[in-house]
Amino acid sequence: MSALFVNLAYIVAAVMFIFGLRMLSSPATARSGNALSSGGMLIAIVVTLLSKGIVEFHWIAIAAAAGALVGALASRLVAMTSMPEMVALFNGSGGIASLLVGWAALFGADPNSAGAVTPFTAVTVFLSVMIGGVTFSGSLVAWAKLAEVVPSGAIVFVGQRVINAALLGGLVLCGVLFALLPAPDSPLFYAILGLAVLLGVMAVIPIGGADMPVVISLLNSYSGLAACAAGFAINNNILIVSGSLVGAAGIILTNIMCKAMNRSLTNVLFSGFGAVKTVTKVEGDVKPIVAEDAYLILEAASAVTFVPGYGMAVAQAQHVVRELGEILEANGCEVSYAIHPVAGRMPGHMNVLLAEANVPYDQLVESDDINPRMPNVDVAVVIGANDVVNPAARDDDASPIYGMPIVNVDHARTVFVLKRSMASGFAGVDNPLFFGTNTRMLFGDAKASISALISEFK
Ligand code: TAP
Repeated sequence: MSALFVNLAYIVAAVMFIFGLRMLSSPATARSGNALSSGGMLIAIVVTLLSKGIVEFHWIAIAAAAGALVGALASRLVAMTSMPEMVALFNGSGGIASLLVGWAALFGADPNSAGAVTPFTAVTVFLSVMIGGVTFSGSLVAWAKLAEVVPSGAIVFVGQRVINAALLGGLVLCGVLFALLPAPDSPLFYAILGLAVLLGVMAVIPIGGADMPVVISLLNSYSGLAACAAGFAINNNILIVSGSLVGAAGIILTNIMCKAMNRSLTNVLFSGFGAVKTVTKVEGDVKPIVAEDAYLILEAASAVTFVPGYGMAVAQAQHVVRELGEILEANGCEVSYAIHPVAGRMPGHMNVLLAEANVPYDQLVESDDINPRMPNVDVAVVIGANDVVNPAARDDDASPIYGMPIVNVDHARTVFVLKRSMASGFAGVDNPLFFGTNTRMLFGDAKASISALISEFK
């Protein structure tokens, strides 16, 4: 296969990745975007295998079949609420794959030529092993925290930053020495491997569970950078391109999430957010409401906004929410869905759930756009959201979430909050919204409460 043909095929694949990524930015085109990018990856893999003249396809075929089986089962069996954990494992797999590719590059195509490692290869191997190792172990810790296999809070201790800086310094030193004296069996290589894996663990343990989605997005970016370095190590153009795209997309997403929480990346990575809670206790009277009374208010409403949060995912209430929305519309009411960028536990969590329930995309409104309209909303129905509607983030400069943009549901004429108890949200802070004069608490599982409202309408 000529180099020209291979590179042309790679360009086609790269263009498909780029357009695929572009299409992921809207729920309407996201599925096709995913399919387009997968098609690009298929072209890249087939061309790479053929161009390298790899004849021993049976191992590759076995691995591909095993991977496809695991992927297919995971996509069927893993619950929507466990998707962040799954993404963490995906990133970790990307990291270890790049690490192994980088490691293998030390031995060249021919194991007998081992020893003839150039300084350039040594640098690229160092980068892919370092970033891949950090991504691998960091992602496993992120997974363990999200799955609550280990305590999800921030684990902080005195001298932690100094130790982490020393680990990073040691890694860079070993990398420089390895580039000067490159050899496949160099003890320096094993030192790099060990230090990278250790640094991944140490870098993620001080980050609290609430910040894990940001960390996962950052690790996603790292996995791209590791793949890019591995691409240089084995001199494969499409790996370099796809790695850079993942690296860039991951860092852009990380930035969007940090902005949505009004926090810097440094604050997320180093503040130990959630380790110490300095929370102002909120007290007052709550006004519970039952479905029969809530129905009467909804029945008379002409503008209703649903504000979904993590609890909607837990309750799997998206289908009944869509059904209630349709009933309200049939009743002459204008219905919208306010989407906060960090509602739930992963980017786009609410969009995915509502798309699954076939809620029309044009009814989804971002918080910045709905907020000016909120005073004209008759009822804001908060479905298992808490932190993203907490007015303390706007009004209380002592609150740990102060400055995080919120959906101003308290500005609506009436607010229904659907949750099971008075428990706090992920950030662990009390919510004065529950005590607002215009707030009514509809206690219970969100799906049961919405179903009860539907029964009242029927
Ligand atoms: P949360 O603040 O976590 O609140 C979820 C609420 O849902 C809880 O208060 C819980 O109260 C309720 N709930 C749980 N199960 C329920 C059920 N079956 N029925 C009804 N209610 C139920 O959620 P949020 O407002 O979506 O905020 C997301 C949080 O995650 C923010 O702190 C955000 O910063 C953080 N975070 C998210 C992301 C992304 S990308 N999404 C990234 C980083 C951080 P009860 O237990 O009383 O029912």
